[in-house]
Order: sequence, then C-alpha cells, then structure tokens
Amino acid sequence: MKDQLEKLQADMLQALSKAADAKTVDALEVQALGRKGALAQLLAKIPDLQPEERAGVGTLASKVRAALTQAIIAARSRLAAVQPAQTQFDPTWPGVMPSIGHAHPVAAFVDTAVEFFTRLGYDVADGPEVETAAYNFDKLNIPADHPSRDLWDTYYVQSKGANPLLLRTHTSPVQLRYLESHKPPVYVMCPGRVYRHEATDAGHETTFTQIEGLAIDRNLHVTDLIGTLTAFLRHTFGKVKTRVRPHYYPFVEPGMDVDMSCLLCGGKGCAVCKQSGWLEMLGAGMVHPTVLRIMHVDPKKFSGFAFGMGVERLVMLKHGISDVRQFLSGDLRFLQQFHS
Ligand code: DAH
Repeated sequence: MKDQLEKLQADMLQALSKAADAKTVDALEVQALGRKGALAQLLAKIPDLQPEERAGVGTLASKVRAALTQAIIAARSRLAAVQPAQTQFDPTWPGVMPSIGHAHPVAAFVDTAVEFFTRLGYDVADGPEVETAAYNFDKLNIPADHPSRDLWDTYYVQSKGANPLLLRTHTSPVQLRYLESHKPPVYVMCPGRVYRHEATDAGHETTFTQIEGLAIDRNLHVTDLIGTLTAFLRHTFGKVKTRVRPHYYPFVEPGMDVDMSCLLCGGKGCAVCKQSGWLEMLGAGMVHPTVLRIMHVDPKKFSGFAFGMGVERLVMLKHGISDVRQFLSGDLRFLQQFHS
C-alpha cells in the first residue's frame, strides 16, 4: 500500500510538471484527488489491510495529498505566469505600417508628364538605349563631320564601321523609329534614359532621363508648339510665364529654347535664375524638312514640332534639389523625402 501511495505521488508530480495547460492540471487533480480519484480508491482499501500494514498509511496518505495539492497549486501558478504573455495581444494597439515604397522622383515626374500628354491625345513610345549612330545622329540631320556632334559626346559600344553602336544621347531617335511604323498625323512622346560622356558635377550626370515629344499634322505652327509646352509647364509647375529664344538644334528649323519664369523669385531675379528671372526648361522647334523627308513625310503636306526635356533638371527645379548626382545615388535619406 505504501508503495502504491509513493508511486501515485511520483507519477502525479511528474505529470503535473509536464502539464502545459490549465485543463490538464484540472484533469490530473480530479484523477488523483477527486472523490473517486486514485487516492480515494487507495484509502478505501485501508480497512482490508492487515493491522501491521496499516500502520503509517494514514499519515503517508495525508502527506501525499498535501504534496499533490501543493504541486497542483504550483502548476497552476506556473501556467498563469505563462498565459498572460500569450494573451498580451491588444487589438486596440495601433498597427505597424508596412513600408510599401514609392516612386522615384524622376519616375513620378515622367508619370505626370505621360498623364498630361496622353490626355492631349499623345501616344507613348519606347526605343533602344543602345542606338546606332544613324538614328542618334545622321537621320537627325547631324552628319559625322558636323561640329554639333560634339554637343552629344557619348560612350561607344562598338565604334568600328560606318554605323557605330553607342549609348543614345537623347530620346530624339525614337521619333524616327516611331515614324517607321506610323503614318501622320502622329502625336507621340518618348520618355527614356539617355547617356552623355560628361565630367560629373552637381549639374552634370552621365546618365539621365529625357522626354521627347513629336507632333506631325497638317497646319501645325510654332504657336501650337508654344501653346502645348506652356500648358505642360503650367500643369507641372503652376502659374508660370513662358518665353522662347532662338537656339540651334540640327533637327529643327526654327529651333528654340523654352524658358519659364523663375519659380523662386517669380521673375525678379535671384541666384537660381542667375538674376535673369527665367529658367531654361526645354529644347524645341519645328521639325526640319530634311528630317521629315528622312521619315518619309512630305514637308509640303505636313509640318511638325518636336521638343525635348531633361527630366532631372526639371525635377531639381520643382523640388529645389541642388545636386543631380543624388538621383542615382541610391541614398534612401534622399529618396524617402519624395514619399507622397
Ligand atoms: N535632343 C535635344 C537634346 O538632347 C533636345 C531637343 C531639342 C529635342 C529640340 C527636340 C528638339 O525634339 O526639337 O539636347
């Protein structure tokens, strides 16, 4: 009998120490100490014992009961200490916002420009960044021996032969490629990455982004060009004034640069606009008849205008960024400022 009591105690203590939840402890309590539990059943047998066996059984049984009761209390408090941690979820706490990222300021600018021009009915086209000299220069009226090619010094991927491969210096070749598969009237814009062989500094970068635009239709005039670009600049920068100045680009005639009244001083003159009150925004012009002919468009029937803008420069003016190299730095402290 004594052995059985000791075994009951040992088994129960072990089971209680392993119990992982309150329900198990409750069940063990009933099993050991309940009215019909193991201890009660043993005690019920006491009257049947021989007198010499009986001695000390009652005391031992009391000790076992006390030990088990203690162990049950201990198990309950052990589990109670664990439980609050598991249930410490408070659904009223504010959540942790996952970071979903955002568009790069250059990509965001391109998106707004695409939105603006597609609303005017423009198509959006793409072209290769590794271009042939024919598309990047010759067909744009920039022959190999023409000094204006110096303006667009670039990296050559393959410099041998009559038609070298190079990194395109502007998105203008895309107008030529677009006209190979589209007949006028055409209205198209071409955003994309371009390259220049530059010594980099705060204002110059070897890799940047341009948006080229081309419209070819009957009776298009310089006024259509100026109106379109003024509307675009106002859409992007708010109430600004624009002006055009003659500028030479081989693929247009007349060629011009489009200026916008300075965002900072409103036209009075400041350090950003070099006291002129104006900021140079885009190159543009009426497509040169030679280029129209190269694109198989009859200059007697159709006229067209084209424009090109350097996106980084415009984004710098828009956000007051002083160093163009930051765009490709991958510096999150810079980029995260443009979370919208
Ligand atoms: N391709 C010129 C550049 O990269 C920009 C430009 C000027 C594009 C005048 C045009 C244009 O289409 O008409 O400097």
